[in-house]
Amino acid sequence: MVERYGRIDGLVNNAGITQPLRTLDIQAANFDAVVDVNLRGTLYMSQAVLPQMKEQNGGSIVCMSSVSAQRGGGIFGGPHYSAAKAGVLGLARAMAREFGANGIRVNSITPGLIQTDITGDKLTADMRADIIKGIPLGRLGDAADVANACLFLTSDLSAYLTGITLDVNGGMLIH
Ligand SMILES: NC(=O)c1ccc[n+]([C@@H]2O[C@H](COP(=O)([O-])OP(=O)(O)OC[C@H]3O[C@@H](n4cnc5c(N)ncnc54)[C@H](O)[C@@H]3O)[C@@H](O)[C@H]2O)c1
Repeated sequence: MVERYGRIDGLVNNAGITQPLRTLDIQAANFDAVVDVNLRGTLYMSQAVLPQMKEQNGGSIVCMSSVSAQRGGGIFGGPHYSAAKAGVLGLARAMAREFGANGIRVNSITPGLIQTDITGDKLTADMRADIIKGIPLGRLGDAADVANACLFLTSDLSAYLTGITLDVNGGMLIH
């Protein structure tokens, strides 16, 4: 990356998996998988770019959390997913504090329900209609809604924002 482009201006920690399990059904392997991809992955990817961002005295990292971290469960994620995504918020805020002096901004996005592969075939028409009743903007989110927020947070339009949590949820959770 650096050999090719000379610098790294932005990182979006987007990789994530979820599992629709209840507390008493979560096995150690479930917990490890969900925490590893969502939370450990966010740390390791950030560690991979931070030295270069420090060297160039600037950069922007976006961490993908979830409304599930804020309200104690989304629609499809189990409690271990909520915990991992809440961990992402803590990690992002701590990195924002640590690397502000290096001109590096770290922010989080908390999407509501976005229509992607993550819901698999588990979202029935009835469930969908029910969920939409609780969304003031009257629709589920699209990947572009989240991508646009990433673009904002990685660009200079958000030059004075660090450590924030940006809700991209159509009003599903207003707090
Ligand atoms: N879709 C939603 O409603 C929703 C809501 C809140 C948060 N999120 C979060 O948004 C992010 C994107 O999710 P999505 O909805 O696009 O899901 P998705 O399943 O469509 O995409 C997830 C991506 O993560 C990648 N990934 C999974 N495990 C990986 C690993 N071990 N290493 C590298 N890449 C890996 C997959 O290849 C895939 O490209 C995730 O962090 C998810 O938790 C999604």
